[in-house]
Amino acid sequence: MIEEPCTYVIFGATGNLARIKLMPALYHLEVAGRLPESTMILATGRRPWNRDKWISEVREMLLAKARDGLDENVFKQFQERLHYFEGDLSDPNMYPKMREFINNDPVFPQNVAFYMSIRPAEFGVVVQNLSEGGLLNEEHGWRRVVIEKPFGYDLESARALHQQFSRHLREEQVYRIDHYLGKGTVQNVLVFRFANLMLEPLWNRNYIDHVQITHSETLGVGSRADYYDSAGAMRDMIQSHLLQLLTLVAMEPPVSMEAEALRDEKVKVLKSIRPIPPNAVHAQTFRAQYTTGFVQDQKVKGYLQEDKVPKHSVTETYAAMKLFIDNWRWAGVPFYLRTGKRLAEAQSMISICFKQPPQQFFRTSQIQRMRSNWILLGIQPTECIKAEMTVKEPGLEMNTRKISMDASFRKEDDIQKEAYEELLLDVIKGDRSLFLRYDEVEYAWRVVEPILRVWAMERDYIPTYPAGSWGPKESRRLFEKEDQRWRHSLLVEKEDS
Ligand code: BG6
Repeated sequence: MIEEPCTYVIFGATGNLARIKLMPALYHLEVAGRLPESTMILATGRRPWNRDKWISEVREMLLAKARDGLDENVFKQFQERLHYFEGDLSDPNMYPKMREFINNDPVFPQNVAFYMSIRPAEFGVVVQNLSEGGLLNEEHGWRRVVIEKPFGYDLESARALHQQFSRHLREEQVYRIDHYLGKGTVQNVLVFRFANLMLEPLWNRNYIDHVQITHSETLGVGSRADYYDSAGAMRDMIQSHLLQLLTLVAMEPPVSMEAEALRDEKVKVLKSIRPIPPNAVHAQTFRAQYTTGFVQDQKVKGYLQEDKVPKHSVTETYAAMKLFIDNWRWAGVPFYLRTGKRLAEAQSMISICFKQPPQQFFRTSQIQRMRSNWILLGIQPTECIKAEMTVKEPGLEMNTRKISMDASFRKEDDIQKEAYEELLLDVIKGDRSLFLRYDEVEYAWRVVEPILRVWAMERDYIPTYPAGSWGPKESRRLFEKEDQRWRHSLLVEKEDS
């Protein structure tokens, strides 16, 4: 794939995402020498800034975020790419002016990517304005639109937004970001599964007891309550990130690693997820909200006391669910998904629990619990692959012990990268494999929509958990079997609770 020079237009360039993720990612691409020569970055915002002011703002952002400190030589080169265009997104007259601005100055390449780092409610109208302002015309170069999740608020709004997009853009022009797919270890799920033959025979209902996918955070909702309170954990994390992880764990080998082949297989998984009927929502899902508590010994507020959270909000900050994938590979294997804010540890991991051997020879007593083999894929903060096995303890007795074969694969001199770096580069390359195709979004909404509907009717009560805990104990009721438990840690000794 060719990395052609392009103009990266960033809508919402003065906002939080641009500040903490996008501009640092573009700078790190510069450090790595990966930005095609003559690529330009055109920030747009309402603030009455000029180019110099924007450059000094970016400098500040990078002083805070550059991985190894700001390299002044690299920044000198980087600042040559930085431009600013003052304009109000909601003003249709702004768009023809922007077109003139880009067309009349030869410094701007005619391949243009528009990055919508803006409120989701604005996606549709901005695309329409871009189109009517002549900015999506591909006569002199490609035009691509990059949008952040959430794509829609529910199934209906996702469809409406899709229709609106389809009037102005071909599917190949739309880059729907799920930044999880840009994480190295997430991509490693594919490599781990499809570059190692020894796993494939085990990767199915004959050997796997259940799968857990966890994303836990110690942070609270912070300053994002105006968005978060209307979203909640199910929309914010499960609808996109966690279901994406599930597709990678569960998919069949694709015919190739090309975008369409990969996405075809992911969609098949989403289509095979058994819909949860309204009367099973309680049995298969759990939601809760954090109250005051202690996170790493610091006292923290409860969700209801956070800035801008409505007093009687019943928005979930914790969501867990059990899903079944009705296909030959996975029939009968529960997939447990769980996410929460203000939990005991920040951790993203996929835990695959294997079935017990058919006969247990090495237990000293009937009471001693049988222990399963696990494969653990640590996504963050620890990136690793571990396999847990039972071995004989050294000594005269036939006692057993659980060990962890740790294939942590980071080497000291490995290049560090953030998800956004790869994704921003992929947009330039025109590689859509790590972006969501519309049907993935649609089928993911179909999975969560029945749950959200039932929850939306229950507006006067939500279970709670103290900040700093692992969430409410009652969520254990989702498990199929007595010996299944949430797996909180990558360490053997802390296997379950
Ligand atoms: C975002 C969610 O998409 O992902 C946030 O909106 C969440 O609420 C974040 O905290 C988690 O991403 P990461 O990369 O920090 O694990």
